[in-house]
Parts: sequence; C-alpha cells; structure tokens
Amino acid sequence: MTTEPATGHATDTGPGPGPAAPEPPVEDAPRPPRAAREGSVDDLAYLIDCYRAHGPIFLIDQPGELARKEGASFTVLAGPAANTFTMKAASMHQSDVKLRSDRHWEDFSSELKMEGHTREGEGHRRHRTLTSRGYARSAVTGRIGDMVRYVEEQVLGWRPGERTAVVPAIQRVVSEQLGRLLIGHPAGGYLDDLVIFVRTTKVATLLRTEAAAALSDPAYIRARDRVFELGHKAIQARRAIPADAWPDDLLTDLLTAYALGPDDEPSPMLMAATVGPLLAGLETASYRSAFLLYLLLNDPKAAARVRAEADEWFAGPLTWERLKGADTLRGAMMDALRLYPGPSRQWYTAVQPFVFEGHLVREGDSVIVVYDVSHHLDELFPRAAEFDVDRYAPPRMEHRQPGAYAPFGVGGHTCLGSGIAETQVMVNVATILHHLDLAPDPLGVPFDADGDAESAVHVGVVGRRTHP
Ligand code: HEM
Repeated sequence: MTTEPATGHATDTGPGPGPAAPEPPVEDAPRPPRAAREGSVDDLAYLIDCYRAHGPIFLIDQPGELARKEGASFTVLAGPAANTFTMKAASMHQSDVKLRSDRHWEDFSSELKMEGHTREGEGHRRHRTLTSRGYARSAVTGRIGDMVRYVEEQVLGWRPGERTAVVPAIQRVVSEQLGRLLIGHPAGGYLDDLVIFVRTTKVATLLRTEAAAALSDPAYIRARDRVFELGHKAIQARRAIPADAWPDDLLTDLLTAYALGPDDEPSPMLMAATVGPLLAGLETASYRSAFLLYLLLNDPKAAARVRAEADEWFAGPLTWERLKGADTLRGAMMDALRLYPGPSRQWYTAVQPFVFEGHLVREGDSVIVVYDVSHHLDELFPRAAEFDVDRYAPPRMEHRQPGAYAPFGVGGHTCLGSGIAETQVMVNVATILHHLDLAPDPLGVPFDADGDAESAVHVGVVGRRTHP
C-alpha cells in the first residue's frame, strides 16, 4: 500500500522547537497575556498580529455565537511551537491527552444523529485504524484514468469566450471521484444536498458564524434527510451484490466492521462513516483545486511549467507513479494549501491543567489552535504572501521546519484523506491545464475563499488546446 505523503505534515517534521527553558510548575505559571485589542477568531490577520505581539499563547474574548457552549474567553495557541505541541497534546495515542475536541463537535455529531458518540478516545482510534486503508492514497491511485475522465466530463464543455465559475464544476468532479472510488456510489443528484449540509453545519455548529437557527431551516433539514438517503442507497447497492464480489474499498471495510441493526438499519456510526468521505472531502478538495487553478492563472511562468508537466504526463500512461514526479505541480499544490488551507481552527477543551510556553492553561479552558498562522510567517516561508512553487524542493524544503506546515491539521484528527486530496488536486488541475487555455477572471473579480460555489473563483475560457 503506497501512502507516501507529498506534503510534509507537522507530524513528520521531526522534534518540535520545544520550550527554551523547563516550564514552571503548573501552580506557579502565570496566565497567558490577554490580547490588547479586540478582534475576531475568524480574522487571520488579527491573530497573526496577536502572535507577533504576545507570542504563541494568548487570550481573546469572543462573545457571540461561538461562546454559546464554550464561554466567551478563549486561549489561542498559534505558530509553529503551538502546532508541534498540539500534535502530541491532542493525540489519542498519547497517555496524557491534554486537549479534547468532543465538546465543540457535539452539535455537529447530533446533526449526524450521533448524540452520545464521542469523537475522541479509544473508539475513535479504532475507527481511524479501520478506515485507514479505505482513505489511503492507494485507494485511488489504481483509478487515475477514471479520475481524469470525471474531470474531462465536466470541463470539456466549457466554451471559448465564457466566464465560468470553477467550483461548481469541480464539486461535481470531486463528488464523482470520492463517491465512486471510496463507496462505489456516485453522489449524483444528491450533490446539492451534500453541499447544503456541509456548509450549514460548518457555519452553524463549528465556526458558529451563523446562529443555530440555520439548523431548523426546512431546506437544510430536507438536505440532511437526503444525505442519509444517499448513505442508505450506497449501502443497499453494495449489499445487492454477493459479499465475495465486494471491491476492496472503504465501504467494504465499514460493512465488515459495523453490523446492521434490526430491519437492516445502519447504525448512526455506519451511516456517518459511509457519507463521511463526501462530507469531509467534497468542499475541501474542490475549493483547493479551484484555488490552485486561480493561483496558476495569475502566475503565467509557473502555469507554463505546470502545463509542460501535464502535457508530458498525458503523453504516456496516466499513472500516479508518473504524476507524483511532476515537481512543479506538486510544489504548486503544496503552496496553494499553505495559502488557503481552509478555516484552520481546531477547538478544544483542556482536560487537565498544563503549561505551554510558560503560561498556564486551566482544566476546562476553551482552547483554539490556529494552525495556519505559521504558514504566513516570513521567517518560515520567505515572502510568505507570495505564491512560490519552488519552496518545497531541495535545498529550500521550507515545509520541513518543525511545526511550519500543517494544511491537514494537527493532533488526533489530522486529515485521513490527505493523500487522496493531494492526488485529486494534482489530477484535476493537470487535466484542466492540459485540455484548456484559460485566463484569469475577465471581470477581474478577486477570488473569495469563503464565497459560495458560484462566486468563489471565475476563469475566462480562451479555448480548447489541440494535441498532436
Ligand atoms: C485539500 C483538501 C483537504 C483539506 C485541506 C483537509 C483538511 C482536513 C483537516 C484540517 C482535518 C482535521 C479536522 C480536525 O482536526 O478536526 C481533516 C479531517 C478529515 N479529513 Fe480532510 N481535508 C481535505 C480533503 C479530504 C478528503 C478528500 C477526504 C476524503 C477522502 C478527507 C477526509 C477527512 C477525514 C475522514 C477527516 C477526519 C479525521 C478524524 O476525525 O480522525 N479530507 N481534513
């Protein structure tokens, strides 16, 4: 099984920077400094300012929706030392776990009818082990030709002269890739429901930028019901074929491990895990593919290098073995994930008092780890604001600095699908650049990382490329 990462996650960057001197005992340690000015936990520039002013641990007040469970005061951990620390402090493989995320995720779990289920501890560790094969990169590397075809089906119809929204097309691509390859069932007509479910739960239960009332909206409830319907259909379709003919995929591993209940009803756990790859991967992988395309179209030199690699790849067998050597494409994908990894917040409760960088975190404190602050520090990534496809190649290897690069998170829930996601982003963008001449948005609208699918990223279609 090949699971080689293209990226250097915070896990594989070696020992962390660690404290310069031994930490003071818990009872003597002072509380973290409080941020001097008000700002929002959703504002990355503000959090970077706070990191510069106070170091890797500070307190901020955050009234409003976010406070409805956690209280209004948050301890923020940010920067490379925080990433390295969280990797261990929130890992269920450690005996002395300091940070647990279950309280923050309770509302999300109940939207999946998983009340009473904890997303931490031994149960979660077992579930990760069970699903590791189905989520490994090798789950898709034998089907790269199919992945390319799903892209071609969506984008070859783009017409010259059109101004096109990229994300909706790539959402369809990604839903085909994940649905067919991981659970043997396409998302098909359920795509809009998945998008509504993911976006609503994200803003109403996790980021809490919207009130919980969004979860009572009839359109949302209908979408949620249909997501469950999709899960049922995938399970029924698999059970309609003899078990000895089941493919080696995620759904087979799930059905082997989790028995069906009375009336053949899947447990909430089985249902959530069946639609899991679509919930976890649909928005993330589609937006990241679109961001990479945007960045390349605005950097013609890098785009020409990536396109040359894509053309060379298309000139031979479409295998992962050949694509993974496309160093410029890989560097471009990694830098797109550095610049736009997503919300990049992890919410925890301290389950024991501890000292980090000389400051006390008390048991019960609400903690937010902002793991992409390090991505924007010039001392780690010179000219950090610039897209630079050569950062990750020797001798620079900027991602290998401890705690510097963590697009797939830190701690016990790091992305299980990271290898698949990297493969999708590279395949999707290589295929588009090989087949189409595109230009940046003709209206010059800057892309909106938080925008909905129709508004996030536009391109101008120049024409189809011809190949001898
Ligand atoms: C570029 C695209 C992606 C990014 C940036 C990304 C990022 C992340 C992050 C940051 C987490 C950790 C969340 C936390 O700590 O609570 C995560 C978790 C997860 N991701 Fe991804 N992801 C991507 C694509 C995917 C894809 C395509 C899949 C499925 C094939 C996937 C499956 C998962 C799963 C199952 C988890 C939960 C792991 C757990 O709770 O133990 N992700 N992802």
